[in-house]
Amino acid sequence: MKPTYRSFFGLQKEPFGSDLPIEEILLTTELGDVRERFDYVLRIGGIGLLTGEIGSGKSTALRYAAGKLHPAEYYSLYVTATTGSILELYRQILTELGIEQCSSSKAMLTRLIRQGILELVEGKKMKTALIIDEASLLRMEVFCELHTICQFDKDSKPYLPLILAGQGSLIDKLCYKSSAPLASRIICRAHLQGLDKEGMAQYLLHHLRLAGVKKPLFDESATTAIHQGSGGLLRKANHLARGALMAAAAEKCATVSAEHVRIAATEVF
Ligand SMILES: Nc1ncnc2c1ncn2[C@@H]1O[C@H](COP(=O)(O)OP(=O)(O)OP(=O)(O)O)[C@@H](O)[C@H]1O
Ligand SMILES: [Mg+2]
Repeated sequence: MKPTYRSFFGLQKEPFGSDLPIEEILLTTELGDVRERFDYVLRIGGIGLLTGEIGSGKSTALRYAAGKLHPAEYYSLYVTATTGSILELYRQILTELGIEQCSSSKAMLTRLIRQGILELVEGKKMKTALIIDEASLLRMEVFCELHTICQFDKDSKPYLPLILAGQGSLIDKLCYKSSAPLASRIICRAHLQGLDKEGMAQYLLHHLRLAGVKKPLFDESATTAIHQGSGGLLRKANHLARGALMAAAAEKCATVSAEHVRIAATEVF
């Protein structure tokens, strides 16, 4: 696991990293679709849904869409959900609003959230967005009443648009009758699937370029193996691609083949 493979291939940094600045995120069609829906939810108010398999690029897509908002115009609140109670979620939202509060009163916490949002929207003339990532982790009891924090002036003012992102089980939770008030406010949804083979070839090239290498290091068989081994899912593709580069460098092969991907696959899940 030594970084010597980097000098072997002339890579200027660790390739296939997760810390991409917004401008280095690959603009796929799916990402464009997510951004379009994200902007629609913010314009109209209401709720948008983003689902996808593990490692399909949901958080990156949220980061991309939120990163494109003008900071002087938008105040976005980004929360990573937990399996905790709704009180914990409310406290997370308050932290995003810059308010630390340890009260256990639901009424008090919702009142503070409302005040914070009103201050932003009516006081500072800003637009807001609440983004809840990993929302599939939320308890059913949270789904029952989450819509209430988005209600302003007797549910007539869409001051707090909401984006929910998570795995497919999020849809199952929204299909319960008790989640109907929340589900009825959803105005659009997007689902991220794995990339197809052509998309994967472009994805691999993109990450190599970001690491300073312009030529394609993966041969056709390696691209197919990464595509098949990852199911087109990006995090797994990252791990397979990086591992395969290391395996190829260890054998002093200038091109990565399917056999190197197979070696890498023995180390990852
Ligand atoms: N559009 C993109 N351009 C470049 N790299 C990407 C893109 N989307 C995702 N990635 C890469 O794939 C990795 C996994 O993406 P991400 O963490 O967004 O997936 P996720 O669907 O949120 O996963 P999880 O289900 O575990 O939350 C990222 O760390 C990043 O390296
Ligand atoms: Mg994620």
